[in-house]
Amino acid sequence: MKQVGFLGCGKIGKTMIRHLKVRADHPIAFVQTPNFKGDINLDCPVVSTFDEDVCKADLVVECATPDVLKQQYQYYLRRSDMLILSLTAFSDDDFANKAYALCEKHGTNIYLAHGAILGLDGIFDARDILNNVTIETVKNPKSLGRSDTDRTVFFNGSTREACQLMPRNVNVHAAIAMAGLGFDKTHSKIISDPNVSTNSHIIKLEGEGFSSTIDVSSFATGGITGKYTPISACGSLDRILGGKTPYQFV
Ligand SMILES: NC(=O)c1ccc[n+]([C@@H]2O[C@H](COP(=O)([O-])OP(=O)(O)OC[C@H]3O[C@@H](n4cnc5c(N)ncnc54)[C@H](O)[C@@H]3O)[C@@H](O)[C@H]2O)c1
Repeated sequence: MKQVGFLGCGKIGKTMIRHLKVRADHPIAFVQTPNFKGDINLDCPVVSTFDEDVCKADLVVECATPDVLKQQYQYYLRRSDMLILSLTAFSDDDFANKAYALCEKHGTNIYLAHGAILGLDGIFDARDILNNVTIETVKNPKSLGRSDTDRTVFFNGSTREACQLMPRNVNVHAAIAMAGLGFDKTHSKIISDPNVSTNSHIIKLEGEGFSSTIDVSSFATGGITGKYTPISACGSLDRILGGKTPYQFV
């Protein structure tokens, strides 16, 4: 039985908390989130800032923001594994190297949620034979915090720059970069289109002796997160927590 804590309790966090309550085999130890509205029934302590006596768990789910992750990781990785949703934070090498060093020192683990994208395991397996990786994302301007009235290519460059420019919007790009060629060699294109209601991503991969295209669309349901991601995050949690299933994909 693992104690699970939450850093952040928005759309993704609430879905995961409900999922854990239904599973009922791993207790929720705490939730750290400011201005908690009480819009989900919790039996655990809720704190607005890190509290050393309260924020103890075997696994802490980060589902807040990249900035919050960068501010809080050092409190958690000293004694907890972390399941992380805000992957764009890893485009900051200083943060990433410090986080990896903390895990090495304290024997803790970082799990990266695949989030909105599928197939990262296969990309990770192919990373040594990849030559070219591009990602094109199309979102409604509202999902991007923009007000374009026409289809607009507003970013075309490295995934590292994309993550630094739009840290809350390009987690898929960060995930693909971390699985494959890294933040500098992966190419990102971001399009704002007022005529779409989906978040769509086309990923093109070319390597020695193979090529592949991944095309994923998720309906935008307000805010920045599509419908699929909270469900996929529950699957990531299940894989970490374990439990008997008739078969497993490896
Ligand atoms: N990996 C992916 O594919 C993917 C997809 C969608 C979203 N995300 C990322 O997951 C994260 C959560 O997404 P969401 O849709 O649930 O967001 P959300 O806006 O619904 O929730 C964010 C939560 O963070 C909390 N928060 C803000 N400041 C905090 C602080 N100082 N300490 C603790 N908590 C704080 C907020 O109160 C809120 O509960 C975001 O960073 C988002 O970019 C990743």
